[in-house]
Amino acid sequence: MNRREFMMNTAFLAAMPTVAAAQQAATANKPPVPPDDNPLRYPVKPLAIKTSRELTVAVVGAGSRGNVYPAYGKKFPGTMKVVAVADINPYRRDRMGDQWGIPAERRFNDYRDLLKAGENGKLADILLVTLPDHLHYDAAMKGMDQGYDMLVEKPMAQTEKECRDLLAKQRETGRIVGLGHVLRYAPYYVAMKSAIDRGLIGEIMSIQHTELVDKIHTSHSYVRGNWRNSKIATPMILSKCCHDLDIIRWFIGKRCTHASAEGEQRYFIAKNRPEGAPARCTDGCPHEKNCPYSSIRIYVKNRSWTAPLDPPPNATEEQMMEKLRASPYCRCVFACDNDQPEQYAAALRFENGVSVAFSYEALSPVGQRRTRVIGTKGMLEGGGIGFRFTELATGKYWDWNMKVQDVPGYELSGHGGGDLRLMRDFLVAVDTRDPSALTSTLEASIESHLIGFACEESRLTGRKVAVRV
Ligand SMILES: NC(=O)c1ccc[n+]([C@@H]2O[C@H](COP(=O)([O-])OP(=O)(O)OC[C@H]3O[C@@H](n4cnc5c(N)ncnc54)[C@H](O)[C@@H]3O)[C@@H](O)[C@H]2O)c1
Repeated sequence: MNRREFMMNTAFLAAMPTVAAAQQAATANKPPVPPDDNPLRYPVKPLAIKTSRELTVAVVGAGSRGNVYPAYGKKFPGTMKVVAVADINPYRRDRMGDQWGIPAERRFNDYRDLLKAGENGKLADILLVTLPDHLHYDAAMKGMDQGYDMLVEKPMAQTEKECRDLLAKQRETGRIVGLGHVLRYAPYYVAMKSAIDRGLIGEIMSIQHTELVDKIHTSHSYVRGNWRNSKIATPMILSKCCHDLDIIRWFIGKRCTHASAEGEQRYFIAKNRPEGAPARCTDGCPHEKNCPYSSIRIYVKNRSWTAPLDPPPNATEEQMMEKLRASPYCRCVFACDNDQPEQYAAALRFENGVSVAFSYEALSPVGQRRTRVIGTKGMLEGGGIGFRFTELATGKYWDWNMKVQDVPGYELSGHGGGDLRLMRDFLVAVDTRDPSALTSTLEASIESHLIGFACEESRLTGRKVAVRV
């Protein structure tokens, strides 16, 4: 979450008096202390662990996510280290290789080379699959056959059949396989789940959950970037929203039986390309000044979202322009090969009668997830950082709110602390051979993917679709 999004989130929460007080305490660098009668506990696990030995990791895909999880080993030395890497991008391959002192013979180009090299014995205890969506399946199937325990980024695969194959392979091989559903590990969601499980709101009646994606994030990832096209990556409901579906399924703890969904690609399409706009912003667009999606402003002037350009440190404006021109990110947002809808509205029905209204919005001024869980005894309502529990009978309310980044160890852990918490729990699972240390195994998370496929089928056919669990 960037600073602007954080400010918007806190503005939303500042409307709640006790939350504002809690935030004041947080800014003073002291985690807020709940009043004695606050039934919302602070189940924030310490991030640090001690493993019985230093676990070794082979990373396939040393891009953004491939660097997120190994950061745990740098923060808590002795727990894990990266000993092999594969990336078709030589800059990223060597960046990781140099960072971890990996010898040349363990730096591979394609992930298949790394997996072949391990044929007579694995190269490491753990395989970290942080490749693009369309390669997860192949890498994970092969990796399990070779005896790797692994952490696979979400979405696990591109089709329903592939997801089922992965689960079958995991059961056959008995490997420990964690999935990158990092929100399950973020203290905010852990605290909400704990409130639900302790019965504070009674039985869940319904959930309303909205994911707002900042418009620049949308343009970067879902119009110009890696997830722009459902056939190249996965449909939006999986590539972006499998996190949301997963949280919803996890909260309810029952099967989803039916899904119906609406949503269209209506804005980032050729029809809306302004008169005279060239196919690339870098070719002298007359609308550059007023276009919020000017790639020159985003990447060169503001230097935001620059990771996929691999800019050299302290790059000059000319160097950035050169990088931009050579990348797909210079394209006019109305002249891309994208097919993802800009809004998604899904209605889900669960076997216990709970109904869920889920929506996704791509043209938001902020990035935020908003959740309301209504139960027979009370309601939980939150905006991603803090949430409020209101008791139905008395109208009394209590707030859970903490800046997780202020909790020692959690500094720099993305997704509300979930990124490194997942790595922590995954290492515990591998070290102790106990997959129950994880909440997001293939077994636990496959259903949210199946809900996503049902939503997409419904969106495309206009029919209500049964979730085939
Ligand atoms: N859990 C989350 O919240 C979260 C957030 C963002 C992305 N993701 C998922 O993580 C995955 C990776 O995303 P990212 O943002 O790190 O992307 P990225 O493009 O930064 O990283 C992917 C890397 O894979 C490399 N690669 C591509 N083909 C390869 C091959 N054949 N062999 C070896 N390396 C290859 C690329 O060069 C790149 O460096 C995606 O599936 C994405 O959906 C998850």
